[in-house]
Amino acid sequence: MKTRPLENFGVEVSDIDLARDHDPATVDALRWLWAEHGLLLFRDQTLEEKDIVDFSALFGALEIHVREEYLAPDHPELLIVSNLKKNGEPIGILSDHEVGWHHDQIYRKHPAVGSLLYSVKIPPSGGNTGFCDLAAAYAALPDNRKASLEGLRAMHSYAYFNKRWSEPTNDQQTAMTPDITHPLIRTHPISSKKAIYADPGMTAGIEGMPEDESAELLQGLYEWCLQPRFMYDHEWQLGDALMWDNASTMHRRGEFDPTAERLMKRTTILPRADLAVPF
Ligand SMILES: [Fe+2]
Repeated sequence: MKTRPLENFGVEVSDIDLARDHDPATVDALRWLWAEHGLLLFRDQTLEEKDIVDFSALFGALEIHVREEYLAPDHPELLIVSNLKKNGEPIGILSDHEVGWHHDQIYRKHPAVGSLLYSVKIPPSGGNTGFCDLAAAYAALPDNRKASLEGLRAMHSYAYFNKRWSEPTNDQQTAMTPDITHPLIRTHPISSKKAIYADPGMTAGIEGMPEDESAELLQGLYEWCLQPRFMYDHEWQLGDALMWDNASTMHRRGEFDPTAERLMKRTTILPRADLAVPF
């Protein structure tokens, strides 16, 4: 396989077939690239649902997402992200609108460390996925600012995200996704790099801090993180698979023409059990 850096961060990996190249040396090399660079792009892949699941499972146990209404019927490890409808009902989540910056699963006690998204149908334009490297943003902070963030914990809420960017969960799903806190600065379970672990979409505040002070601190952090030098904007092609790191990056999606069709399939990859709680 070959690698090529993407703009600002992330790596394109070519000369690889995700449906077949599962030998331990390849998987090991990919695991390190993924942890080190935060984002891997594989182009021109032809993947059945089983292939996406099998490849993703090489990197960790796969989470069955709480949104059971949007899981692939034959492969519940796959979450359908789409604006398509069947019999008048959406087959996937997130439709065609903008989706603000977030980490997948930051609201879980054991958040996913990775996501893999595979494009099956894409609109002629729009629907880009933007990524922000929160490990690089943390590393570039002045030392006194790093020290001021040490020991803080942030509160995360799926309900907070859904109110602005998605739709409410049902009672059972709500019970499965209570609000939670994690360290504001977390250590990567594989690379040991530190990263800012908060995002505008899912982080409701800093634990134990007055609301206005907490909002000001987070706003300042987001402005720092969302500098162009920490960002990569992905324009999708058919057959792209993007595998990103949820411990050190956040992402957003742009809106697209609602009359166009977009169909993406996602797996959600959990970390090793002994490293499951962010630290
Ligand atoms: Fe997401």
